[in-house]
Amino acid sequence: MKRRTVIKSGAIGLVSASLPKITLAMGSAKKARDAEYDYILTAEPAKARIASGGDSDILGFNGQFPAPIIRAKQGKSLRIMFINKMDEPTTVHWHGIRIENSMDGVPFLTQAPVAAGGSFLYEFTCPDAGTFWYHPHMNSVEQLGKGLVGALIVEEEEPQDYHDVIVGLKDWRLKKDGSYLQLSIPREAFRDGTLGTIATVNGEQKPTIEVPAGERLRLRFLNMDSTRVFNLSLRNPDAQIIAIDGSPIVNPIPLDVHPTGAGMRLDVGIISPKEIGIEIPIFDMKGRFGVEICRLKTAASTSKRSPKIGIPALPENPIPAPQLNGAESLSFVFEWAGALSPSDAKGGVDHNFWLINRRAWSDHSHQDLPEPLAELTLGKSYIFELHNATPHHHPIHLHGLIFTVLESDKKDITPFHTDTILLEKNERAKIAFVADNPGKWMFHCHVIEHMKTGLMGYITIV
Ligand code: C2O
Ligand code: CU
Ligand code: CU
Repeated sequence: MKRRTVIKSGAIGLVSASLPKITLAMGSAKKARDAEYDYILTAEPAKARIASGGDSDILGFNGQFPAPIIRAKQGKSLRIMFINKMDEPTTVHWHGIRIENSMDGVPFLTQAPVAAGGSFLYEFTCPDAGTFWYHPHMNSVEQLGKGLVGALIVEEEEPQDYHDVIVGLKDWRLKKDGSYLQLSIPREAFRDGTLGTIATVNGEQKPTIEVPAGERLRLRFLNMDSTRVFNLSLRNPDAQIIAIDGSPIVNPIPLDVHPTGAGMRLDVGIISPKEIGIEIPIFDMKGRFGVEICRLKTAASTSKRSPKIGIPALPENPIPAPQLNGAESLSFVFEWAGALSPSDAKGGVDHNFWLINRRAWSDHSHQDLPEPLAELTLGKSYIFELHNATPHHHPIHLHGLIFTVLESDKKDITPFHTDTILLEKNERAKIAFVADNPGKWMFHCHVIEHMKTGLMGYITIV
């Protein structure tokens, strides 16, 4: 049975970003639970005040920025009716979800593009709890650059004793008056990517976020920017990393500075001070110096629960453990046509600049499918040996699977699960996973300009 609700576009204020859930009064409790998480989501042109000097023409989910926060429950199905109210095709990708291939939202690879005025029912189960996000996978420099990015929170089967704080990060390429600067500058696309000029946290510039005093907080950082790496720090010895890219850390580790590349997430646990009005700044570290991105401020807590002690680990997700003995190893080299001219004869963008295993896939629409980078056998374990042979960092992301980072030649690794690995310049790393999800899965850099200029491919699992 399909049930849906209609969200009037633009009717929801910027502050309340959550979409109403459908709760059915009728029927058994189980039925009500099954129907709890249906959403209607649009992508549409809208106006938003991002810059101080004037409104910007944005592309917004439900016409909003920040986009609605979608909440789902682990192990439960999630149904989202997506309506494309833009004048160009798009798709919606659910980043980090070990999803059924046909719901992965990659045009031509997993579905036909959703045409202007068209709709598509995304219906899937979220096997893992954690901090995930959603965004289009088409004309991404513009569609993501102009606002189509949103948080997807999958709640644990067992409720966790944390107060959720979403910290959604996105920079905009805007002038002070709210008009756009060129979204991508070729010279920058061939380096670390074109940075934004106005940084927003949950849609605001350097906001102060109220949090309850004396509570155990779960700060869910989402780097939904197209380019930037945030070196996140609270400069507070008590802050602990409890999850990386949605996957819980078995033994939470103190957060010193954690590099979080485009597309990546970080969950940090901390107990807020008991006193009201205490401010906790959050920084993006540039070497020893911190640039404040936002701050928390304690306010009276409504909960009358006893004081919180310690930062408990989150329950592990059901990620299958790869058999490392006898796993097949495949090597992927991320290269840089650095010797070539970064622009073509007419001064335009070279769409074959970045290479994976000497190949570029830069077709904007994905319409011409190249051969897969690798064909994997369903159920087998694989080790990917990644080599970033470029002088730039790349957050390398794999769809449909969650992998284990085993080792790196640049840092000591305690193996952890993730969907995106930030490779430093010249870094070599090994990742492993069980190829248990059949289909065609994108494997690309999440610096959107890198992906659009070649650093993109896919693997198949059959
Ligand atoms: Cu956020 Cu192809 O992914
Ligand atoms: Cu993804
Ligand atoms: Cu890259």
